[in-house]
Amino acid sequence: MRRAVIMGVGAALPERIVTNADLEKTVDTSHDWIVSRTGIEQRHIAADGQLTSDLAAQAGKQALANAGVSADSIDMVILATTTPDDTMPATATKVQRMIGAVNAAAFDVNAACSGFVYAMTVANSLIVSGQAKRILLIGAETYSRILDWNDRGTCILFGDGAAALVLEAQEQKGSSDDRGVLYCGIRSDGQTELLGTSGGVSSTQKSGFLFMSGKEIYRNAVTRMPEAVVEGLKSINLPLESIDWLVPHQANLRILAGVGQKLAVAPERVISTVQKHANTSAASIPLALYQAAQDGRLQPGQLIACPALGAGLTWGCVILRW
Ligand code: UT7
Repeated sequence: MRRAVIMGVGAALPERIVTNADLEKTVDTSHDWIVSRTGIEQRHIAADGQLTSDLAAQAGKQALANAGVSADSIDMVILATTTPDDTMPATATKVQRMIGAVNAAAFDVNAACSGFVYAMTVANSLIVSGQAKRILLIGAETYSRILDWNDRGTCILFGDGAAALVLEAQEQKGSSDDRGVLYCGIRSDGQTELLGTSGGVSSTQKSGFLFMSGKEIYRNAVTRMPEAVVEGLKSINLPLESIDWLVPHQANLRILAGVGQKLAVAPERVISTVQKHANTSAASIPLALYQAAQDGRLQPGQLIACPALGAGLTWGCVILRW
């Protein structure tokens, strides 16, 4: 059967780092509070004029080079983002032009912090159905542009960044030993009041600022994400013990620990980048995969579970073999 196999990874983080100590100067917060409640120590913030498309293109080019494939061999550019450059066209089409993916179709996927899982579900379906052979899948965000920097409840939590994967169709046996994407599952429930922005194109003609019911989101995250992993493993007949790496959406270190605990995954098997990147929404899982691939933790043949939850509420899980 056809599988979507990861052939290359890339990432891009803005140069500017904002530490918790920096935030202490502008809002009523402290490094200790932020670290004890979230694990976050710093975040990267885009420079003036540095757009989501810039980060996405940089990550995309790196992923293409890492895979050793040319931009004109890509037949889809799928960009998961909630912070597009403009209302239209899709930021993916700008990225397509910036990287020279002249033979591709390009579009954005908006599923907030579940963006990577949703975009991967679409990409996997396109590959398995034979509609696409090689896809550049990118998660890229500039949440710094939709934060109220006077709201200490939210501005400490997010950062900017991008990461990309090259996915390629490969014929495999059709068993759970195959390399590539083995499972994708997505859900949503319409609880839009828990996390969102205070505006948008049709409602206010402004993008608005991010709002969140932190405790409710937290509660949903530590329940839905483990459930999504269990459901995924069950559908491909693999036990919990088969997980080599848990790479969840990176929102809060306490959430990562809670999800790991519920799934009985040892803490050293949970990849966490939230300390250095904060929450980069749709970019967080691919950034974590990139990091773990670069430092040699991810090895071919290992099983990786990537659950996420975000605004919508949306949630889901991708299970893949590296
Ligand atoms: O990617 C998906 C979206 N995001 C998430 O998954 C995040 C989910 N939620 C969370 O991670 C946590 O709920 C937060 C980190 C956002 C908040 O942690 P918490 O333990 O739920 O704190 P809290 O909101 O209950 O706030 C506790 C106290 C409050 O003071 P009072 O009312 O107890 O006097 C807040 O006003 O901490 C105060 N507080 C702060 N203090 C210092 C809130 N933000 C800050 C801050 N610095 N930045």
